[in-house]
Amino acid sequence: MTGFPIYRPRRLRATENLRSMIRETSLSVKDLIFPLFVVPGKNIKTEIETLKGNYQWSVDRVMEAVDEAAALGIPAVLLFGIPSYKDAAGSSAWDDNEPVQMASKAIKAKYPELVVITDACFCEYTTHGHCGVLDAKGDVDNDPTLENLKKLAVSQARCGADIIAPSNMMDGYVAAMRQALDEAGYTNVSIMAYSAKFASAYYGPFRAAADSAPDHGDRKGYQMDPCNSDEALREVALDIEEGADIVMVKPAMAYQDVTRRVHDTFNRPLCVYNVSGEYAMIKAAAEKGWIDEERIVMETMLGFKRAGAKMIITYFALEVAKWLKEEK
Ligand code: PBG
Ligand code: ZN
Repeated sequence: MTGFPIYRPRRLRATENLRSMIRETSLSVKDLIFPLFVVPGKNIKTEIETLKGNYQWSVDRVMEAVDEAAALGIPAVLLFGIPSYKDAAGSSAWDDNEPVQMASKAIKAKYPELVVITDACFCEYTTHGHCGVLDAKGDVDNDPTLENLKKLAVSQARCGADIIAPSNMMDGYVAAMRQALDEAGYTNVSIMAYSAKFASAYYGPFRAAADSAPDHGDRKGYQMDPCNSDEALREVALDIEEGADIVMVKPAMAYQDVTRRVHDTFNRPLCVYNVSGEYAMIKAAAEKGWIDEERIVMETMLGFKRAGAKMIITYFALEVAKWLKEEK
């Protein structure tokens, strides 16, 4: 043998302190975004059947969940709403008196530092359950939807949102929102774009929770084909060009290659959405006693970080935060 020996990490794995020195990836409570569902009415805390351990909250009680998240050090919540009325346009989405807007105001009043992210889509607000206005054929009509998205963004910003997260994937959605926000004076409000959102069966449990399943057809016209990752990069590039502050890959677990490529290509703040079906699978197997829930969840979260994600939207946020605390 000549020269230096090849690198053998074995010696550096001998003790926990040594392992900690060569660890490349870490998970922190500051990586977590906690999704919350707010509904009309009073004194409501209803467990979501398909998302055990998560609840639909009325605005007067949602602070119970927010208090817990804040106490654990979670930096951000993501608000989804079920409106008190639906119509073909989804006009309750830009009504300042609906649950998302009211909850944003209440949360910012109590926790000015907590980052409030609001979901900007129409499927919860339209009678037909699609993510925008429909044309005569029953397909989503891109440009009129953009006009509504502008009103929605300004309403959410007015009610305190720090980051608006448009999940409907219309063409030009980021630029339209950015322009509307700037014109209304909300230049400090950021946009988190669902840039690489795939048409996925993993959203099933969410649609039950948010009452947002389409009544006809599917979302393949505006969500991406799971076969494509080059296309995902083009979508991300477009959203960045239009002014997205944060880009997202969704779902997370089956698309970690996309996360890695987006990270390496763009080096922008990157979020992954650990979606409802991913949560439900782990919960169900854990309930059966087939897996060690804590270890599986923590390993999964680390996988997202290793793939290049900076932020993780997860229904496990409270549990992960508690487990991280116990580790110390
Ligand atoms: C709606 C929306 C969906 C999710 C977030 N926003 C579902 C969909 O596109 O049908 C899914 C979240 C999850 O599954 O946890 N635009
Ligand atoms: Zn939608």
